[in-house]
Amino acid sequence: MDWADLDDAYGDRSELASRVLERVLSHLESLPDQPICGDVEDLDFFRSLRSEAPTSGQELSTLLDLIFDEVVPRSFNTAGPGYLAYIPGGGLFPAALADLIATTTNRFSGVWQAAPGLAEIEACVLDWLRDWMGFPEGTRGILTPGGSASTLAAVICARDAHLSPDIREGVIYASEEAHHCIQKAARLAGIFEDRVRHVAADEESRLCVASLEEMVRRDREQGLRPFLVVSSAGTTNTGAVDPLAEIQAACARESLWHHVDGAYGGFFHCCPEMRERLQGLSEADSLALDPHKGLFLPYGTGALLVRDGQRLKASHSGTASYLPSTPSDGFYDPSQYGPELSRPWRGLRVWLTVQLLGTRRLFAAIAEKRELALAAYEAFSAMPRIHVFHPPDLSLFPFYVRGRGLEDENGLTRELLERLRSRGRVMLSGCSQGSRFLGRVCVLSYRTRQAQIEALIDDVRVILDEIHPQST
Ligand SMILES: Cc1ncc(COP(=O)(O)O)c(C=O)c1O
Repeated sequence: MDWADLDDAYGDRSELASRVLERVLSHLESLPDQPICGDVEDLDFFRSLRSEAPTSGQELSTLLDLIFDEVVPRSFNTAGPGYLAYIPGGGLFPAALADLIATTTNRFSGVWQAAPGLAEIEACVLDWLRDWMGFPEGTRGILTPGGSASTLAAVICARDAHLSPDIREGVIYASEEAHHCIQKAARLAGIFEDRVRHVAADEESRLCVASLEEMVRRDREQGLRPFLVVSSAGTTNTGAVDPLAEIQAACARESLWHHVDGAYGGFFHCCPEMRERLQGLSEADSLALDPHKGLFLPYGTGALLVRDGQRLKASHSGTASYLPSTPSDGFYDPSQYGPELSRPWRGLRVWLTVQLLGTRRLFAAIAEKRELALAAYEAFSAMPRIHVFHPPDLSLFPFYVRGRGLEDENGLTRELLERLRSRGRVMLSGCSQGSRFLGRVCVLSYRTRQAQIEALIDDVRVILDEIHPQST
């Protein structure tokens, strides 16, 4: 037995591939009927997965049974049409095919000289993103594993552009509603917690520019160096879009880097009717996007655009004598624009999906998610026992169930979410603002269509008849 021959070790490739494909396709077909939330509390089962590595290869069928029958069902059905919780992801199938191509060809997409065509396909994808977001020619970017990684790269760029090596005086500003990845990115970039300001949000959960300016003024008086404002093109809690244009103007006045977190909402800029709401996004210094949210791609697809591409390069470039020289200007060398050297060929999943579907379909799907969210909002606002706030800025809105006082309302709202989940057609998640618990409806899964919104509305009506305010 030639134990070191790995290519011949697992049987016939095409037979293995067709068995996997068969399971994948039947999984996709059964998605709408799968539980909206599997048993994520089966701790004994999860512990049992920490098994020892086998000395000899195992049979594929047993492994596929484990994955498809045991592991995957015990999770949130994030790919299902009824998933309206958190920020739904996507998972368009062409991206899976692209990953198969990328991982089997396994060319080195980190360095331009090693795989120029692969790097240029990635550059092409970044050009698309740049154009869709209205960024100018000199923009450069990087495809990342997600919004958190993009935010980290943006904070590092802003830090390098504005601060001296003594970074201790540098201060970052983001609204109290901003995503927690900003604090994490700050810490990873060497900016400690006491230099991250949580700017007050107004009653519509949008960053209050007057408070921002006041905080900047006070920090300057203290001898600190404000350098970065992160605004949200759609917050995770309530979907609020900060006043991006006003923040941009304030940043220009104060010479601050303006980074827009468009992880949730950035792709709504592809819909002309949404551009006014997102005005200012195209003028920012940098923009984080999550194609694995708004462009319906699988998890692990994020992006960062930086208006002055040389800034991104200055923060990330590096070479060594054992590497080929970097390409002449105009070509795109991914490892010079991000932290990774070896990396997956991320661009192919975006490129192949956009090539196969075309932008008309993709953008129509984004626009539809907003329409569906508006329809759900209208229906909720017509229910006397539900309190809604202003119409969604994008495709997410919060609400609560009215009751007798705050505690009762929090309890009723939680109960509604739990009952919805156990009815199994749609899943929502919640968040807290101060002591208030809010339910949230977020429409962003490409599989969510009119039928799921109707199911949501019907189920909410039925549940409201079942749950009642506490009697005094
Ligand atoms: C507004 C916002 N920003 C940033 C992130 C972080 O993105 P990722 O999970 O891709 O790291 C999220 C995630 O949901 C988000 O909603």
